[in-house]
Amino acid sequence: MNAALLQRLQRSLAQREGSSLRRKLAARASDDLRVNLADNDYLGLSRDPAVIAAGVAALHEWGASSSASPLVTGYTVVHQQLEHALAAWQGYEHGLVMNTGFAANSAVLGGLPKKGDLILADRLVHASMLEGIAASGARLRRFAHNDLDALELMLHEEPALEGVIFVVTESVYSMDGDSPDLKRLASLRKRFGFCWVLDEAHATGWYGATGSGLQEEQGAFAAADIVVGTLGKGLGSQGAYVLSHAPEVRDALINFAGEFVYSTYLAPSCAAAALAAVERVKGMSAERGQLHALSHAWRDGLVEVGFAVPSGDSPIIPLILGDSDVTLKYAAALRAAGFMVSAIRPPTVPERTGRIRISLRRGLTPTALANFLQALKGVRE
Ligand SMILES: Cc1ncc(COP(=O)(O)O)c(C=O)c1O
Repeated sequence: MNAALLQRLQRSLAQREGSSLRRKLAARASDDLRVNLADNDYLGLSRDPAVIAAGVAALHEWGASSSASPLVTGYTVVHQQLEHALAAWQGYEHGLVMNTGFAANSAVLGGLPKKGDLILADRLVHASMLEGIAASGARLRRFAHNDLDALELMLHEEPALEGVIFVVTESVYSMDGDSPDLKRLASLRKRFGFCWVLDEAHATGWYGATGSGLQEEQGAFAAADIVVGTLGKGLGSQGAYVLSHAPEVRDALINFAGEFVYSTYLAPSCAAAALAAVERVKGMSAERGQLHALSHAWRDGLVEVGFAVPSGDSPIIPLILGDSDVTLKYAAALRAAGFMVSAIRPPTVPERTGRIRISLRRGLTPTALANFLQALKGVRE
């Protein structure tokens, strides 16, 4: 290996190590019995018998891989059925399955905005959106997190553009578990005529009468121009999708998005599992009620033992601890007490806001909460 390159890599890794920020992989065993508070399988669908059966049947029918780009032979009738099902469920006319949410966001935001356009993005939008935006050549302004007054001010401040204004938000923020007012965003969109890109990654399955997301929950059904969602979180599978009212969005991705064109397509078994998950999730409104109650119970419990956590009923609760070494200390103690947790540190989150990101899931018991609170108290003492 080239010596200069090795030195450069060693220096940057040592820098991360020195500030407790070095990321490390830990392989999980299938018989790990710790209580999982880390992954995004909020409704437990990755283990749902109907979802597994659909994936297995597709494995037998199609084999283990799509084996090609979607433009060659990778696109199957299973992908097509899935995109129709996703679009109809969430109130859109057009859908396109993508390999990952990361690829979907970077394709949409890297490909649709151009030089001369303006992107107004929430301060905390996901890294995949920022990667796309950086590649797009459009000008970026970021508004304070969930502050729609600040967004409105920016919209007033901006002189009439030749280009297009994009507004980029999530519906449930991945590291904070909070949400913007989607009805207000919808009314700003009507007034100012921007193109609204909404990432529903963490809301799908959890919110809405049929589980289609926060737009449905907040009475802003299908209000965004473009929705990006993932199949790998609440839907318990793998892959992602982009929905739009305009057929041109789908066509542009098929024609211009390298993430779509130059990559082996999502395996049909993942698409089939996701299709089964969509059908399962529509009928889970009783479970959604229980999950929202669970979210309140965990937040109340954390507040009772002296931690400040945001109110709400989303699946994500940030336990903000500050410095990275403190975050690591809590994570180690919680793991030792039988919980699977991840220590989220900069640059994933802003400086000095290291946290345990508590990710809730169906089936968590009151005993798990009591033990978790007990373990937290133990670290603090
Ligand atoms: C808000 C948000 N969007 C997109 C993604 C990426 O989705 P995927 O895991 O399917 O690549 C994530 C995952 O971390 C996310 O949190």
